[in-house]
Amino acid sequence: MHFDFVKETQRNKARAEWVEQMAEKLDAKMTFAVKKANEVDFMPYSTENGQWKETRIGWWTNGFWPATMWQMYLLTGKQLYRDEAVRTEAMLDEALRDFKNLSHDVGFMWLIHSGVRYALEKNQDSYDRTLFAAEVLAGRFNPNGFIRAWNGEGREGWAIIDCMMNLPILYWASEVTGDPRYRLIAMQHADTSIRNFVRDDGSCNHIVIFDANTGEFLDNPGGQGYESGSSWSRGQAWALYGFTLSYLHTGKQEYLDTAKRVAHYFISECMEDFVPRCDFRQPAEPDLKDNAAGNIAASGLLELSRVVPELEGRIYYEAAMRILQAQEATCADWTETTPAIFTKCTSAWHDIPGRHMQMNYGDFYFLEAIGKLRGEKRLAWYPNREE
Ligand code: GLY
Repeated sequence: MHFDFVKETQRNKARAEWVEQMAEKLDAKMTFAVKKANEVDFMPYSTENGQWKETRIGWWTNGFWPATMWQMYLLTGKQLYRDEAVRTEAMLDEALRDFKNLSHDVGFMWLIHSGVRYALEKNQDSYDRTLFAAEVLAGRFNPNGFIRAWNGEGREGWAIIDCMMNLPILYWASEVTGDPRYRLIAMQHADTSIRNFVRDDGSCNHIVIFDANTGEFLDNPGGQGYESGSSWSRGQAWALYGFTLSYLHTGKQEYLDTAKRVAHYFISECMEDFVPRCDFRQPAEPDLKDNAAGNIAASGLLELSRVVPELEGRIYYEAAMRILQAQEATCADWTETTPAIFTKCTSAWHDIPGRHMQMNYGDFYFLEAIGKLRGEKRLAWYPNREE
C-alpha cells in the first residue's frame, strides 16, 4: 500500500492546524503580493526595499509568478488569482517570440502555468504556448544524449542538473500529441544525467561539460555551488524532484531509485536544523542558507512519499514536514513590508548580492507543498494528472 500523506496530516491535529493556518496566511500575503504586482509593469521575481524588482522578460524564473497564481486559485478558488495568471501569461509572449534567446528553462517558463491553464480550461492559446516551448526544448537536444542548457559560444556541450525539472514539458508534449519523440528525448537526457551528474553517494554535479561532437565527459565545474565536487543544495533538490517527476511520467524504476538515492543524501545533509545550507560542502562561515532548495526538496519529498510503500513514504513525509515547518518558523516574512515570503534564498554561493534574498520560486514550492498537504492532486509538473 502507498503512503497517504493527506490522511497522515489529518490524523495529526497540530500539523493539520498548521497546514490550515499556512493556507490562510498564504491567501493574505498573496493578495497583497498581487496588489504590488499590479503597481508595476514587469513580471515579479525578487524584491528590493519592500517592492518587486524588475527582471528581463526572458529570465528563466518568469513562469513562476503565473504558476503561483494558478496554485493559489486551486488553493482558494478566488478569481483574483486566475485573472492575474491570465494577465501575466500574455506578458510572456514577448519572450516566446524571441525564442532564439531562450534557454532550456522553458518548462519552468510555460508548463507550470500555460500547461495548467490548458488542463483546466482547454484554451488553444495556452496549448500553443506550451507546445511551442516544448518544441524549443526538443530542438536543444544533442543526439549524444543530452539537452543543451545555455546559449553562447563555447557552451554547446554544457548541460545542468536543473534541466531535470524541465523534462516534464516534453512528457506533456508526447501526452497531448501522441508523438513519442519528446518523451524519448527526455528519457535520454535523464539516463545521461544518472550516469554523469549523480554521484555514488547521492550528491550531484551542477554542470557537466560534454564534447558537443562526441558526447565525451570533459569537466564538471562548480557552477552555482562552492566548487567543483561540492554539493549545491538547490541542484540536489532539482535532482530529487526531477527524477521523481521522470518516474511519475514514465514508470521507469531507475528514475525512482535515483530520486531515492538523492533524497537520502539530501535528508542526511540537512538534519541539523532542516534549513539547507546553500552548498552542503561549503565552508562553515558564512552560514549561507537556501530556502528555495528546502522548499523544492520538501515538495519533491511529498511527491516521492506517495509512490513508495507506506513505511518508506513516512520517512520522506517526515523530512518534508520538518523542512517546511523549520523554514517557515525561522525564515518566513508574512508582513506587508515585502511582497514575497521566504527571506533566505540564495542565487549562487559566489553571487554575494544574491545571498539571503527573496526569490518568488522559493515561495512557489512552499505553497505547492501546502496545496498537496490539503489534497490538491493537480501538479504543475503534470497538469493533466488529476489522480
Ligand atoms: N536554474 C537556476 C537556479 O536554480 O538558480
